[in-house]
Amino acid sequence: MEDPQLVEDIVHALDLPPPAGSTKRRPVHTVGVGVQGHFVPSAVASGYCVAEHFQTRTDGKALKVNVRFSNGMGVVQEHDGWSDVRGMAVRFHLDDKRSTDLVAMTLPVFFAPSPKTFLEFALHARPAPCRRLTPWEKIKQYLKLQLPMPDPYPDQDERPNEGATSYADAHIWAQPAVLDASVIGAPVSYVRTAYHAVHTFVVTGSNKEKRYVRFTWAPVAGVLNKDPTKPPENEYLQSELKTRLENGTARFSLMMQVGETGDDFNDSTRQWPPHRKRIMMGTLTLESMPEDQQTYNEKLSFNPCHLIDGIEPSGDPVLHIRKDVYEYSSNRRGGNPCPFSGQGGTS
Ligand code: HEM
Repeated sequence: MEDPQLVEDIVHALDLPPPAGSTKRRPVHTVGVGVQGHFVPSAVASGYCVAEHFQTRTDGKALKVNVRFSNGMGVVQEHDGWSDVRGMAVRFHLDDKRSTDLVAMTLPVFFAPSPKTFLEFALHARPAPCRRLTPWEKIKQYLKLQLPMPDPYPDQDERPNEGATSYADAHIWAQPAVLDASVIGAPVSYVRTAYHAVHTFVVTGSNKEKRYVRFTWAPVAGVLNKDPTKPPENEYLQSELKTRLENGTARFSLMMQVGETGDDFNDSTRQWPPHRKRIMMGTLTLESMPEDQQTYNEKLSFNPCHLIDGIEPSGDPVLHIRKDVYEYSSNRRGGNPCPFSGQGGTS
């Protein structure tokens, strides 16, 4: 059990006061949409990981999944066209009672190496008033080899960018994630961007070998962003996905990067070298968007520590505190019982 005060402080540091945010909704990744589909492991997956969802099924039944795609911001308005991190939370239903989760986002690295530094970061990166820089201010920044802050969107008067950047100026570990987040843009579809589970997990192979790994969902249709020079179009991501699934399916490959000696296993601000071995672990096929979004989106309670035999958390302290943070947040907003509550909650 993590320090309950720290857990509460972290969630409160993420909260935005109404009308921007709401404690009846998620404090981050507030706007989202739930979809359903199935997962098929690759032929080599079971050799690398003995967890049940990586075993070839002999009963002929598809392994069902619930997926929630989201915008990373903690605002209740659907600003799809704004540059923002996106989320993809997946629940694999092993049978009617048991499940396991994989929670991912579009940044490959995280903002802070520990819960306390994340709290500090979150307090600095609270949305603050923003303005358009004058052309002269921009030129001065370019001359100093600095990237000027982007112009605010037409209806944007507050944003976290300035606070996050000044924090990153003083804390080197925050720089990769803050830089990536500042240029991330908006995808043309929730299924045209890659999502990373960011932390290291430890998987056990069929020969009992343990490997330190990181997971990424790679979109089979490829990555494609909106043109950042065009005015942002809002409220298109959910309708785009609905139409796409009414006319067909969408697929993701689950890729597993295998860490080597010298890679950081307990700090998700540190990326691994890009040439690390990658294993294709399976294919996720999305099929439909249920009408009942209260059940299949708003009420769902994912948890990155909801794991099963064959996959363990690494020693990353951020991964460990997320277990209690997500449970606290889910209880507060009246989500389905968290997978750890002992009351089921696997729907
Ligand atoms: C200390 C670090 C972090 C904190 C405190 C935090 C906090 C939270 C909270 C409070 C929620 C709402 C949970 C709920 O009410 O169900 C949430 C949702 C989410 N977080 Fe994090 N988060 C952290 C790190 C991460 C990382 C590293 C990732 C990506 C790997 C991530 C991806 C997501 C996603 C995708 C959701 C939406 C889940 C859903 O659709 O229900 N978060 N986060």
